[in-house]
Amino acid sequence: MPNLNNRSGSAAPAVLIFDSGVGGLTVFREVIAARPDARFVYVADDAGFPYGNQPPDALIQRIVAVMGDAIAAHKPDLIVVACNTASTLALAELRKRYTVPFVGTVPAIKPACAQSKSKRIAVLGTKATVSLEYTHALIREFAAGCDVVPVGSPKLASIAELQLSGMPVADGDIAAEIGPCFVDADGRKTDTVVLACTHYPLLTERFRKLAPWPVDWIDPAPAIARRVADLLRDREVAADKVPPRIFFTSGREPPPPLAAALGHFGFSL
Ligand code: DGL
Repeated sequence: MPNLNNRSGSAAPAVLIFDSGVGGLTVFREVIAARPDARFVYVADDAGFPYGNQPPDALIQRIVAVMGDAIAAHKPDLIVVACNTASTLALAELRKRYTVPFVGTVPAIKPACAQSKSKRIAVLGTKATVSLEYTHALIREFAAGCDVVPVGSPKLASIAELQLSGMPVADGDIAAEIGPCFVDADGRKTDTVVLACTHYPLLTERFRKLAPWPVDWIDPAPAIARRVADLLRDREVAADKVPPRIFFTSGREPPPPLAAALGHFGFSL
């Protein structure tokens, strides 16, 4: 386990949360609840969004470069890659390049298969995440005795961005993306869906309404928060709370509805 003592020299541990956009906020909200005294910096690589539809090699290079800049600018003690696409694709390379400890976000296939009663689950992620060998290796390793349908959605991350920015999104657009998760075959229906993109928990309420039958939607964020709290357990709890900060690689000013939504997550812009 990495030693996180006194890396920054200040009492409050500095935690960098990284995603291609606003999806990582679903991880951030759990991590800040677990360790509210930490100094949080959220970096959204919105200039590169969406990651999920891009060719892997160029994307790895981009993630490594953006992360290098973020580490130089913010000097984190710990980085949470709050993006399944970036984690499944680039975590190994990031750990090779940088000495800062990384916590990744990868599809929660093991707990989903363990809790499924029908032994039929779906993994709903970006096209990149569900097609990557990393995800297929998780399925081979942890899904024995369970049927897994991987569903790569080209649009849901953008839909989540629109919704958080206050734009209307039609039910039919969401229903079409989640539809392939629902399989009813051999007398067994999908009963568990792994949310394998951090944007998707922003849409869980709509998923519940639009699902053809009730299922459990697995959000890995609480498990990630527990892992972060565990890694930081030797860092004393800082007395003063520092407000979290958010940076967009595009340098854009968030439009007012998005700024208001970010305010609900604790950011003041
Ligand atoms: N939030 C990201 C994930 O968890 C992906 C969104 C995108 O396509 O950029 O995979």
